Amino acid sequence: MVELRVGLLGLGTIGTGVARILIEQKELISRRLGKRVTLVAAADRDLTRDRGLDFTGVRLCDDANAIVTADDIDLVVELIGGYEPARTFVAAALASGKHVVTANKALIAKHGEELFPLAAEKGLQIGFEAAVGGGIPCMKALREGLAANAIDSVYGILNGTCNFILTKMENEGANYADVLKEAQALGYAEADPTFDVEGIDTAQKLSILAAMAFGSKIRFEEVFTEGISRITAADIQAAHEMGYRIKLLGIAKPHGANGQVDAVEMRVHPTLVSLSSQMAQVSDSYNAVQISGDFVEHTMYFGRGAGERPTASAVVADIMDITSGFPGGITHLAPPMGFVESSRREMPTMPMADALCEYYIRLMVQDQPGVIAAVTSILADHRISLEALIQKERHASHNVPIVMLTHETTEGNMQAAISRITALDAVQEDALILRKESAVV
Ligand code: HSE
Repeated sequence: MVELRVGLLGLGTIGTGVARILIEQKELISRRLGKRVTLVAAADRDLTRDRGLDFTGVRLCDDANAIVTADDIDLVVELIGGYEPARTFVAAALASGKHVVTANKALIAKHGEELFPLAAEKGLQIGFEAAVGGGIPCMKALREGLAANAIDSVYGILNGTCNFILTKMENEGANYADVLKEAQALGYAEADPTFDVEGIDTAQKLSILAAMAFGSKIRFEEVFTEGISRITAADIQAAHEMGYRIKLLGIAKPHGANGQVDAVEMRVHPTLVSLSSQMAQVSDSYNAVQISGDFVEHTMYFGRGAGERPTASAVVADIMDITSGFPGGITHLAPPMGFVESSRREMPTMPMADALCEYYIRLMVQDQPGVIAAVTSILADHRISLEALIQKERHASHNVPIVMLTHETTEGNMQAAISRITALDAVQEDALILRKESAVV
C-alpha cells in the first residue's frame, strides 16, 4: 500500500492532537484513502511531558532541522506557530521537496505570498485549512464547493477566545480578565493573548479568506482592526436592549463594477448583529463563517474554531488530501488560494474612511441641560440620522452614559462627527463607536 510519511514540528496542543489522530485513526484513514499515512518523526523542545500517547515507532527529537531535511519524510506538519522560526522551517521543508501542512495563520497571512511560489515551483502543496476556523472546512468550501460563484461578502466569527469572552460576559456577567484566563487554560488563546483580544488573529484569518474569495493577494497589514478590550458589560446590555448582540467579526467585501473587483474592503471590529440572526446564536469558542455568492446566495459554516481536537481534524484532512494525490503530483487539488496563480491580482484595500456602516455610539457626558441637543446637532451637521437613543441612569460622578444607534454613513464622516463631539466640554471620555451589520443572516 502506498505510504505517505509525516514529520511533525511541535508537540503542543495541536501537535499532540495531530499525533493522536495519526496514531489512533490510522485504520480509518487507510480505509478512506486506500493509502497509509504514517507518523515517522516529531520534534519538540519538551519531550519529557506525558502526552497520553504511545509513540512507539515514532522518532522523537528536539531538532526541527533534522525533520525538514530527513530523507524518510514526505510531508512536514508545522505546528510551532508564529512567524519565525516557522517560516524558515517551512521554506527549508519545501526546498527539500516535502509537502507542508500548517495551522499557522500568522505565517500564511504574513509570508504566504512568498511560500506559495516556493511550493508551486517544486510541484508541492501547502495545506492550511486549520489556519482559519479551526476544525471548520470553510476554505475548502470557498475554494471548491463555492468555486462557481463570484463572492459577494464574507462575515466571520474567527476567534474562539473573543467569542468565549463575549459570551461569558453576556451570560454570566463574568469579568473580562477571568474569562480570558479560562480561555487560555482551555488552549484556545494565542501565546500572546493580545493577538486574540485586539483582533489581530481575526485580521490574519480574514486576510486569507478575503484573498481566497476575491482572487487578490493576502494583505494582512491593511486590514482595519479593532479588538474587544473596550467593550463593557454595560455595552453588551445596551446592545441587547436595542435588539443586538456584540460579536467580533471579520468582514470582507469586494468593490468594483461589471463583475470586476477593483478594491477589497477588509475590517475587523466588534459588531452589532441582530439577536435573531444565525450569527448571534454562535456562542462560546465556536466560530462561524457566512460566505455569500452570486448564485448560491448565503451559506454558513459553523464549528469549533480552536482547541486540540478540532484543529487537528483540519490538519489531518489536509494531510489526507495531499496523500490522495501522492506520489506523482497533486493536480487533483484546487490551487491553494482558490485561483490559479497567474490570475491572482494585486487589488488595493479600500480606505476605511469609505466604508459604509451603521453605528453604536457610547458617550459619557455631564448630566446637564443641552448636552443631547449639542451632540445631536453635530450629528445633524454631518447628516447622520439616529435610529435609537438611550440615556441610562446617572453615575455617582454626575456623569451619565448615552447610547445611540445611527443609520448608515461613511466611516470618515462618522469619525469627523465624533472628533467634534469628543471636543465638547460636557463629554467626559473618548466615545466608543461600534459598527452594526444588517447583512449578517
Ligand atoms: N487563538 C485562536 C482562537 C486559536 O482563539 O480562536 C485558533 O486560531
